[in-house]
Amino acid sequence: MKIAVGSDHAGFELKKALVEYLGSTCHHVEDMGTGSGESVDYPDFAAVVGKAVAGGSADRGVLVCGTGIGMAISANKIRGVRAANCTDEYSAEMSRRHNDANILTLGSRVVTPEIGVRILKVWLGTEFEGGRHAKRVRKITGLENQNRHPDG
Ligand code: RB5
Repeated sequence: MKIAVGSDHAGFELKKALVEYLGSTCHHVEDMGTGSGESVDYPDFAAVVGKAVAGGSADRGVLVCGTGIGMAISANKIRGVRAANCTDEYSAEMSRRHNDANILTLGSRVVTPEIGVRILKVWLGTEFEGGRHAKRVRKITGLENQNRHPDG
């Protein structure tokens, strides 16, 4: 699986730990920044990773900021993105099984690197259940289309 990863300055250290973990797996990792702890704006990185996932150049995305919340709010503005901010393994599992989340967001000020890696591991290892959940995910896509500007 090709995984695009991004963070702001607050998430930089946790991102490093996640990228290191992903490097030890069979996944292909693309680190899309930021590259240091210098202050940046999280929506810029949510946009890059979100577009990679929505456009199909990455299969999944992982975004890290202080809480994971700003990244989730930003990424979810991109059509086709279903970003889930997870603070525990159960939510990570359910975000895949029921919501087919294609981006995981994590908060570096909320989870330790060890817990972050555990959440990521569960999230990557869990398949979407489909069935009745597929209908609901299609309704999410329907909401994106309802809010579409008539000019596209
Ligand atoms: C940066 O201080 C912080 O606001 C950001 O990382 C994130 O937590 C926003 O949601």
